[in-house]
Amino acid sequence: MSGDPVATQYEAYPYPARNPRDERRRLVEGSPSHLDEVAHYVFAGRLPQGRPLRALVAGGGTGDGLIMLAQHAADRGVAAEIVYLDLSQASRAIAEARARERGLTSIRFLQGSILDIATLAPGPFDYIDCCGVLHHLPDPLAGLRALAGVMGPAGGMGLMLYAPYGREGVYPLQSALRRLAGGQAPRERLALARHLLDGLPPTNGFLRNPWLGDHRASDAGLYDLLLHDRDRPYTVGEMAALVDAAGLEIASFIQPVRYRPDTYVKQPRLLAQIRTLPALEQAALAEELVGNIKVHVAYVVAKGRAAAAVADPGAPGLCPVLAESGMPEWARAVRPGSALTLDMDGVPLRLTLPRLTGAILSHVDGKTPIPDLYRAVVAAGARDVSFEAFQGQFAQLYAALNGVGKLYLRHP
Ligand SMILES: C[S@@+](CC[C@H](N)C(=O)[O-])C[C@H]1O[C@@H](n2cnc3c(N)ncnc32)[C@H](O)[C@@H]1O
Repeated sequence: MSGDPVATQYEAYPYPARNPRDERRRLVEGSPSHLDEVAHYVFAGRLPQGRPLRALVAGGGTGDGLIMLAQHAADRGVAAEIVYLDLSQASRAIAEARARERGLTSIRFLQGSILDIATLAPGPFDYIDCCGVLHHLPDPLAGLRALAGVMGPAGGMGLMLYAPYGREGVYPLQSALRRLAGGQAPRERLALARHLLDGLPPTNGFLRNPWLGDHRASDAGLYDLLLHDRDRPYTVGEMAALVDAAGLEIASFIQPVRYRPDTYVKQPRLLAQIRTLPALEQAALAEELVGNIKVHVAYVVAKGRAAAAVADPGAPGLCPVLAESGMPEWARAVRPGSALTLDMDGVPLRLTLPRLTGAILSHVDGKTPIPDLYRAVVAAGARDVSFEAFQGQFAQLYAALNGVGKLYLRHP
């Protein structure tokens, strides 16, 4: 093994801690790389046609994003060729075992560095997942450039990078632990960290940050959060600059509603001023104001392609699809005139839903375009509703649910 402490860490504590047998009872889903989300934000709703989807999961760890992507493709009948790459042998073994448990055969497993991707698997790839990896590289831009080099011109990436304000308290504690435990073996460092956590003063910033829980989940979680040897967070502006330097641009942050200042600011005069700012500055402002964003998830594409990459609700043929499979509990509970209330890490969000929400959602299946949804809703009893009125209600529903990552658009 190399003497690199990050490589040593992920051999000792593959991340995240996963038991392959759990694949029998649940699928871990999230962002980036939910296949419908990828279709929506990278391919304007239409995955590449006439050939398998070529995907790379770079720094795939124990396989959360990999398994979700491969399982979603299998469930939707989407042919896929997926390459998994990670430095860590121990992580790869777990990811492979998870794929075996599910009988997923679309994945090729590689061990090596992102920096060598051009020779290991030159692509080109339609889609690249790189979740929680670049901020651990000695030179994140070199890593992102290497990935951009194997991305097809009409492709995209789902990136996750740490964000500073929601991780308040992490970095002073990482620094303290380096002073105390630097040079020790992983197991001793972990024991020391637990011991230190037991007696922190109540003023400590990490103790006062209620949004961090990884250290309670597992040894690997604690190590990743507090004992990492290479970890730098990115503000919205810093992430945009990194992406720009690699010849890419951000198509959308996930969840979009978190990056809209009007989610947090209600004073009309201030709002009017905020709306004059460029979109990226508005997102930066939202991050600064809310202070609870721990990670940035964003879909990025070649510079100049962002507008074309994101699905347009006005485009013909697109079919709404719910992020959760089946009719989720919250959707079944919707009544005319009701609202959906969510807690976004301490920020209460109340989404007013249009009258036809229940009727519309009961026909949303990822295969029914918007005009057919209208006909189904009318046939089910809403006979007095004009198409224009329906479109207005659908637009309101779409804005609310897409903003919180519950609804996407795709071609069937
Ligand atoms: C925090 S884990 C994230 C794992 C996974 N992407 C996820 O989100 O669950 C970071 C992973 O990146 C891998 N890694 C770090 N540097 C790498 C490099 N240069 N090339 C490939 N993988 C790397 C580590 O081995 C580790 O498995």
